[in-house]
Amino acid sequence: MTGDRAAAQIEQAKKLLETGEVIGLPTETVYGLAGQINRPQAIQSIFRLKKRPFFDPLIVHIGSVQQAKSLFRTWTEAHEILAKNFWPGPLTLVNQKTDLVSEMITSGLSTVGVRMPSHPMALALLQSLDVPLAAPSANLFGRTSPTTAEHVRGEIPNVFVMDGGTCEVGIESTILLIESGSGGAGLSGSQTHLEILRKGMISQKQIEEVLKKNKIEFVFDLKTSPMMAPGKMKHHYMPNKPLIIWRGQKARDSELTRQIQKHFDELPDEVEGVKILKPAKLESRAEIVLNPQPELAARELYSELRSKANLPVDFLLFHEQAIHAGPDWAGIMDRLQKAASLILPLDNLSAKP
Ligand code: TXA
Ligand code: MG
Repeated sequence: MTGDRAAAQIEQAKKLLETGEVIGLPTETVYGLAGQINRPQAIQSIFRLKKRPFFDPLIVHIGSVQQAKSLFRTWTEAHEILAKNFWPGPLTLVNQKTDLVSEMITSGLSTVGVRMPSHPMALALLQSLDVPLAAPSANLFGRTSPTTAEHVRGEIPNVFVMDGGTCEVGIESTILLIESGSGGAGLSGSQTHLEILRKGMISQKQIEEVLKKNKIEFVFDLKTSPMMAPGKMKHHYMPNKPLIIWRGQKARDSELTRQIQKHFDELPDEVEGVKILKPAKLESRAEIVLNPQPELAARELYSELRSKANLPVDFLLFHEQAIHAGPDWAGIMDRLQKAASLILPLDNLSAKP
C-alpha cells in the first residue's frame, strides 16, 4: 500500500470515528472493531455488530503513554517499565480504571484493559485522535479472529475497514493483570502482583526477565475467577468446522475415528454460551498444518483455520507434538485448544505430548 492510500484511509477512519461510527482497525495482532470511548452509541454498535454478550468487556487502544495514565487509577514503576519495553506491541495491561472509561466498555468491572498497538496505520490513527479507541477483535462472538481486511468484511458487513494487510503477530495480545502492593485488597508491601489473563506471543518468561532486569519486585500470585476475566472462557476462536486435537503418538485412522465417535456423543451442545461444533460424519478431514517457527505459526494460524474450514470436509484435525510445548508456543496452543471441540486421547488430557 502506498503512503498516500494509507493516509487517505486514516483520514476517512478519523472522520467516521469522530461522528460516533465504528470502523475495522488493522493492528499487529488481529483486526479490531473500533469506536471512540466517549461515544456510547459506538460502543453499543460494537457489541451489536459482533453479537457479543454485554458481560464481555472491551479493551482500549491508546496512542500515547499519557493516555494510558489518564485511563488507569495508578501508574507505578512496573507500569512504566512494561510500557517502555513492550509498547507499542501485543501486551494489554489490566488495572483499576478512571471515570474516563464507562462501565459499558468494561461490562461493569472496575478494571480496564489498555494497549498501544504497533501497526503503523493503527498508531497513526490513534495519535491523530483526541480520544482512545475501544476495540475488540472484529469477529463474531466466539469465532476465529480476523487477520486480514477481507476476513472482517466477510463477517461484519457495512463497516468501513482500513486495509493494513495481513497482521504480523496473528494472535491476540497477551493480557496481564497488574496490581500494586499498596492498592488495597490485602496486597502486601511494595510488590507488584501479576496474573496472565490471556496468553499471547509475549510470554510470562519475557515479562519476568524485563521486570527482573529493572529490579521490580513482583510475584505472579493473582488468581482471578473466570467471572472477572471472561478471557478465561474455555471455548472461543472456533472455526466453522469442528476441530479435533490429537495429542502424542500418531494413531491409525481407524483408532482415531473410533475415539472421536465415542467421545462426540458425550459432548455438550454449548459451553458458556458458545456452541460446540460436532461433525455429522467422519469421512473426510483436513489437517491443520503449522510452521515449525512459532512466530510464523502464530501469523498463519487463523488463516489456516479459516481456509481449511472452508474445504468440503467433515472435520479438522491438528496433531499436537513435542515441539509445541514450551513458552513460545503457549499462546498458539491456548488458541487451538479453545478452538477445539475435542482433545484426544482423553486420558492424556493433562499430560504433555
Ligand atoms: O490483540 C488484541 O488484544 C486485540 C486487538 C484488536 O487489539 N483485541 C482483542 O480484544 O483481542 P477482544 O475483546 O477480542 O479480547 C479482549 C479480552 C476479552 O476476552 C475480554 O474478556 C478481556 O480481554 N478483558 C477485557 N477487559 C478486561 C478486564 N477489565 N478484566 C479482565 N479481562 C478483560
Ligand atoms: Mg476476541
